Parts: sequence; structure tokens; C-alpha cells
Amino acid sequence: MRKILVTSALPYANGPIHIGHLVEYLQTDIWVRFQKMRGNRCLYICADDTHGTAISIRAQKEGRSEEDLIADMSEAHQRDFAGFGIEFDNYGSTNSEESLKFCHEIWQSLRDAEMVVERDIDQLFDVDKGVFLADRFVRGTCPVCGSQDQPGDNCDKCNATYSPAELVNPVSTLSGTTPEIRSAKHLFVQIEKLHDFLAEWTQSGTLPPESANYLKNFFLNEPLRDWDISRPGPYFGFEIPDSPGNYWYVWFDAPIGYIGSTQQWCDANGEKIEDWWKSDQTEIHHFIGKDIQYFHTLFWPAMLKTAGFKLPTKVHIHGFLTVDGEKMSKSRGTFIEGAKYLEHLDPSYLRYYYATRLSSKVEDLDLNPEEFVNKVNSDLVGKVVNLASRTAKFIKDTGLSAEYPNDGGLFETFASRGSEIAEAYEAGDYSKAMRMVMELADQANPFVETNAPWDLRKDPDKAKQLQEVCTVALNLFRTLAIYLAPVLPDLATKAGELFGEKLDCWTMAQTPVTDRPVAKFKHMMQRVDPEKIEIMIEESREKSETEQAAPPISSWNDSDEALKADPIAEEISIEEFFKTDLRVARIIAANEVPEARKLVQLTLSLGGEEIRNVFAGIKSAYQPEELEGRLVVMVANLAPRKMKFGVSEGMIIASGPGGKEIFLLSPDAGAVPGQRVG
Ligand code: 2FM
Ligand code: ZN
Repeated sequence: MRKILVTSALPYANGPIHIGHLVEYLQTDIWVRFQKMRGNRCLYICADDTHGTAISIRAQKEGRSEEDLIADMSEAHQRDFAGFGIEFDNYGSTNSEESLKFCHEIWQSLRDAEMVVERDIDQLFDVDKGVFLADRFVRGTCPVCGSQDQPGDNCDKCNATYSPAELVNPVSTLSGTTPEIRSAKHLFVQIEKLHDFLAEWTQSGTLPPESANYLKNFFLNEPLRDWDISRPGPYFGFEIPDSPGNYWYVWFDAPIGYIGSTQQWCDANGEKIEDWWKSDQTEIHHFIGKDIQYFHTLFWPAMLKTAGFKLPTKVHIHGFLTVDGEKMSKSRGTFIEGAKYLEHLDPSYLRYYYATRLSSKVEDLDLNPEEFVNKVNSDLVGKVVNLASRTAKFIKDTGLSAEYPNDGGLFETFASRGSEIAEAYEAGDYSKAMRMVMELADQANPFVETNAPWDLRKDPDKAKQLQEVCTVALNLFRTLAIYLAPVLPDLATKAGELFGEKLDCWTMAQTPVTDRPVAKFKHMMQRVDPEKIEIMIEESREKSETEQAAPPISSWNDSDEALKADPIAEEISIEEFFKTDLRVARIIAANEVPEARKLVQLTLSLGGEEIRNVFAGIKSAYQPEELEGRLVVMVANLAPRKMKFGVSEGMIIASGPGGKEIFLLSPDAGAVPGQRVG
């Protein structure tokens, strides 16, 4: 029994899962399910990739904290994955204690190996937004070939890599302004120190040949470039322990998330991390897209090697998804989110379609809607499910024959193809596996046609023959369902229910089942309705139009009405400002004041025993019952004021002219009563 740890690339927490992502997660899930059916111990580990500028920008735009955003995204991602039958053994987050622990460990090893150096570098700074710009927030003209509108790190046209500061005519995609160059301290990992190791490792059969060949060029004439792994704050990520104010670049802690997430699984299952990530007995398989091979085949092995972790056994690299021969496009409606797909279509369709398109080569795959419909309808519904739907009902009273009948060697042929199909799965050549399965289905269907059980059932003398024909057809169906189980787990479950068993083991395909009841046939898969695909594309297009209609942050155009009505007060010093002690407080009770129409009596907690009674003139905008429990900001050192109804011991902060337009200020999630505001 092999011990295998499998990962898919960690999806960024700044966007939803779409059908492009799903190529990889389905590819991996199929491989993992296959390994589990073969009796291997296999873990499928993943997590959300939560750090970096993109997350901060989005959180800021949505007016909430990064933590709040990534918690929601994790839930949405996991819901989508589950909807497609993608089953992880653990789904974690790079923003976890466990990941942080391994970041420290690996960092320390890099320091100990004297692989970290410090350098001041010029970086593009968006003055408008007050942030250093991550590579992908800059576009400009390629300094090598002159192509316009290229990303900040490498050119789509000539593949040159460069630093964003080298771009000609750079533009910040955050604000549309021209960024300025500022100097900042960065930390670099000198992977050149592992030149010989990496040159050998990348050619050791771990990578697909195309990738290994591509990487050869990196080792030929030049030293490997130092890897810039820090970003100056503010940055949403982990602060580097021995370089305060600097944070690990998201790509440093992202792959470490694989180990952090495994640690969570180990903790929940009483296992040791060393047995998975530091053991020669374990295989480690990464599934990634061709766009991130540089990180997984140079930096990542360099980090693992230095820190004494197990190196990847195999990096499986896939190409990109195109739809109808073109890049996925929001305006054409082909940028389809997983959740949108699930509103309209059965996940099994996509699982199967992708399987028919995936090979072990690093090549792009196309989703052609017409072919999608034809393949699913003719292969799955027409050839596979039909075998059962046309026969099961005829033997629901008699069950399967006591002995497996003579079928002219059909079952034996089916069973004998098992090892070849398994080899194709193992190699990631699912299209070959699917072809072989369909060739078998093509042999099974003529058997049913020729023996026409629907005619046999009309003749009571042919009851035995009918039972035998159905026994053969159902066994052939069962074997196909087992061979397809990694791709179509739902179909395997339903097929298993027919025979009262779980089809979860590859070897079950080798032996026919006999002499047992057959459950009532339940519907297994519907034909794809092409109209649903059209609706899904149309809705995706509409959604992107609505998103685009929302004004970009830089074009918000607030009126000056409020300022005109109430101009900014005379300047004060910071000392004067801090005389006002603003604190977070929780409203623990709110009551009407019968004698005063405008007032609400609030009981505020500043934490512990510190309780204040405050009368607030907010009755026109808030009902007392909607206030209880919420956090507000209060002036905590205001002299108590005696009022007709009692003493007011402070003031809560709100904006607005009055009447219905009073708006209480609330701190973001995470603030606690008693904290100073300022
Ligand atoms: O490219 C991406 O979507 C990254 N979030 C993948 C990270 S993979 C791993 F290294 F964490
Ligand atoms: Zn170029």
C-alpha cells in the first residue's frame, strides 16, 4: 500500500471558484479517488491562499476586515468544491497558526543556511492609494519587446521576466495613476546556492518532460535570480520575525500552507507531520497549472530541501481552459463561476467532460458547449446508464441469476481491461481511460440490442433467458460504473445501490455479482438540456455587466454638501485631540425615556465592571431594541451631565444632520469594548 499526499494549488481568497479553476480540482479529485479505490492511503490537502495586496484591496472596497473577507471566501470555496464532489481530507487556510509555525521553521532554516540577503530595491508606489504595488497591479510596456499593456512581472508576448520598476510607462491598475518609484528594503532568498541541486532535481523525472525541458534553459548560462520574498507593510500577511515592518510575500507562505493544512489533518487524526512531510515512505504529488510551475519547481523545492522536508515525488502540470477555442471571457459570459454552473447543470457532466479532455501532457483544454452536450448525452446517458435503465426493471422480482451466465467472454474482456485503465488513471491520462471505458460500453450495448430483453419478457418461457441477459447487462454496467467511479462518484453510488453494495474498490470490477436482489431502478442521470447552458452563459454575461456598471473606487464622486453645511473646525494639536478619550463600548441595554421623545437611555459596557449610563438623542433614527448588543464609539471622559431624567456619563459618536439621518459609528469586527479609538 502506497502512502500518498496530494495537493491542488491553493485558490486565492479574493475571488470565487470558476470553471477554469475546476479543471485542476477535478483533475486532482479524480486522481485521489482513484488512489483510494486502489487501496492506497491517500490524503487530499488544500487551503485558501489568503495573503497579499489583492485581498486587502478587496476588503477595503467592501468596507470590512481581511479576516472577515477570507472567512466568507473560505466558506464559499468549500461550498462550491463540495457541490462538484471534490472531497478534501483537510481544507485549511494560509492564515493559520499551523502555517505560521512552518513559515518560522522554514525561514529559520534559510537563515541558518545563510541564504537570505537584504537589499534596497526600487518599487512602484501608488501615491493615490498609499501602497507599494504588487506586480499584478501594474501594467505597462514590456522593456524587452515593447509590447503594450503587459503585467508587472513578465511579458505575455515574449515571456521575458523583469521587475515592475523596469516597465516602460507603468500604470497602477488600482487607481489608473502613474506610480512613482520608491526605494524600500527587501529580503531575498539566494536560490542560486542550490543551483546544482535544482538543475538535477528538475531533470529527475519529477516533472512532465515539457516542463523539465523548459526549465533546462534557466540553468544553462546564468545564475538563478535571487527571489524577493518580502514586502514592506502595510501588507496582509505574516510579519517576518527578524525583520519588523516587513512581511513574507504571499508566494513564500502559500506553498507552506500545504504543510500547515496537513498539520491540521494530523492534529485531528492523531498522526505526526513528520510521517507525511519528512518520511521517505510518503509520496508527495502537487497538481498545479502551468502558470505557477516556476514557484513549484524552483523556489518550493529549494525551501523544502533547505529545511529538510520531503521533496515532491511528482508535480502534475496542466494547461489552461479555453471555452469554444477562446480564453474565458466575462463579456462573452464564458467566465462561469462554479456556483452559477451548479444552479443549472449536474456536476457529473463537467467531471466527465473534463476527464475526456485531460491527458498527462501540459496542454490547454477546450470546453466546447456542443461537444459537451453530445459527449455527456451519447456516452454517459446513451451508452452507460442505458445499460441499467433498460434491464434492471425486468429482474426486480427475480434478482440476478444464481450463476454468472455464458456471455461469450464479454465480462472477461471487461475485467481484463482493468489494469490498463488503471495505468491510464495513474498517469493522469484520463482521456485515454475514458476512451477505453467507452469502447467497452460499445461492446456491451450490442449485447443488449441483440438479446432484446424487452421482447424476452413477453414470453413466459423465456424468463430464465431474460434473467440471464439482464444479469450480464447489469454486471457489465457495474464494471463500467467502477471504472468510472473516480470521475463519477455519484453514478457509482447509485449503481452500488442497485446491487446493495458500495462500489469503492477497484478489484470489485474483476468479479461478477450473482444470486442477489436488484433494487428498484432509480433515475441516475438526465440528458443535458442545451438550453440550460445558454441560460447559464447569458446569466454569467449579465452578472459581469452589473459588476462593471458599479463605479470603480477611483471614480466615486461624493458631493461637498455635508462639508459646506458644516465646515471643518479650527486645527488642533495631536495632544489636544488625545484629550478626548474615545473608546469602543457595547450597548448592553437600550430603553425608551417616556418623558423625552428624542432620547434613548443606553447602558454601555466598557468591559469588566465599567458600565455607563448615557442618554442619546437618537430616537428618531433607531429603535431601542435594534441597538442592544452592538458596538459603538463613545467619548469616555466627558464630564457627567445631570439631566432631567438622570445623569448622562458620556456620549456616543454618530454622524448626520439629525432626524432619520443619524448614523452611529461602529468599529469593524474584532474590536472589543474598552479599546481606545484614535
Ligand atoms: O496561483 C494561484 O492561484 C495561487 N494562489 C496558488 C498557490 S499554490 C501554493 F503554492 F499555495
Ligand atoms: Zn515582451
